[in-house]
Amino acid sequence: MAKRDTVGVGLVGSQFITTIHAEALRRVPQANVLAVMSPTAGHARDFASKHGIAHHFEDLDAMLAMDEIDMIVVGAPNFAHCEITVKAAQAGKHVVVEKPLCLNLKDADRMIAACDQAGVKLMYAEELCFAPKYVRLKQLLDDGVLGRPVLFKQSEKHDGPHAAHFWDVDRSGGGVTMDMGCHAIQFFRWLNANNRVKSVYAQMNTSVHAAKTRGEDNAIVILEFDNGVVALAEESWTKLGGMDDRAEIHGSEGVAYADVLHGNSIPTYSAKGVGYAVEKAGSTVGWSFVMYEEIWNYGFPQEFQHFVDCVLHDRQPLVTGADGKAVLEILFAAYESAGAGRKILLPSPTRADKPCDLWLKS
Ligand SMILES: NC(=O)c1ccc[n+]([C@@H]2O[C@H](COP(=O)([O-])OP(=O)(O)OC[C@H]3O[C@@H](n4cnc5c(N)ncnc54)[C@H](O)[C@@H]3O)[C@@H](O)[C@H]2O)c1
Repeated sequence: MAKRDTVGVGLVGSQFITTIHAEALRRVPQANVLAVMSPTAGHARDFASKHGIAHHFEDLDAMLAMDEIDMIVVGAPNFAHCEITVKAAQAGKHVVVEKPLCLNLKDADRMIAACDQAGVKLMYAEELCFAPKYVRLKQLLDDGVLGRPVLFKQSEKHDGPHAAHFWDVDRSGGGVTMDMGCHAIQFFRWLNANNRVKSVYAQMNTSVHAAKTRGEDNAIVILEFDNGVVALAEESWTKLGGMDDRAEIHGSEGVAYADVLHGNSIPTYSAKGVGYAVEKAGSTVGWSFVMYEEIWNYGFPQEFQHFVDCVLHDRQPLVTGADGKAVLEILFAAYESAGAGRKILLPSPTRADKPCDLWLKS
């Protein structure tokens, strides 16, 4: 790959998260989004025209053949992450892959090995590690303001995903824990300087959407770290009224609360409705939480500035394929725990094809 002063980017996917990727990358001066690929006829073309992207493809290999592309951003459904990453690495491209890393540990190893062998970076897209309010929260902890960390809490809730592949556990690997619990797990690891997780306990159920999915739509996951910190994640696909993303740190000398969305929103009452208020807002007639600079508050532009800098200056990414694999190991243990009804000690090796299998088999 030729040394350049900008990073040529190819996007894989053309819907929800890829729209955010395109908007985030527009704010990164050293990024040059050159192409978009999506297998659904017409989608990449429409996306390219909407976002002013020069090239569009329905075939991944055709996009990977573009020499000017240095980095691929994977915004495809979970089941496709591994194959796309391996192909991109073999074509000599750096890879940013959306959460969760992939469906199973064998695939995680394949992705990491393919990128290592090709000498390209595997960057795990976990934007919560870049969300400005969470970055400030971590600073409070790191500065000692809160004393010794005792308990972390993080919750992410909405009323359910927008696309069929999330509800189909064969394509997603699991329900809300796979989809959003992965955020909490990496967030906790990041807060706790990647201290080792020694045990996982989880409770899962499908309380509202059983007609739609075999996956769980509510989950509580408790992690216990080697250094004694306990972390509690609450995940839901059954919460109405818009997205919720909040965290707490309880320390020996203080406590801090951070609410990414409601905490930054404009509480609004409208008899007519607002139109777009926030992700998955549902009805906006009456009271709603109107968000501003949503993708900035989530940290997406900051995340992509970091990944582009890592490629340009050959730096170690804050969140890597190894982090994505560590999250996946904890996800497997969470599903195993919910299935077995007991705490799971790590490591707990598994050859299961996807995390949800360990819960469903019970
Ligand atoms: N970081 C976050 O907060 C966040 C938010 C939403 C989604 N995601 C992740 O992003 C990924 C995509 O989710 P989404 O919400 O954009 O889904 P989506 O359904 O809105 O879009 C998926 C896109 O992938 C394309 N696609 C399908 N199969 C493909 C294949 N085999 N190869 C290439 N492209 C393929 C589809 O045509 C579509 O354009 C998922 O892994 C999801 O977990 C992350």
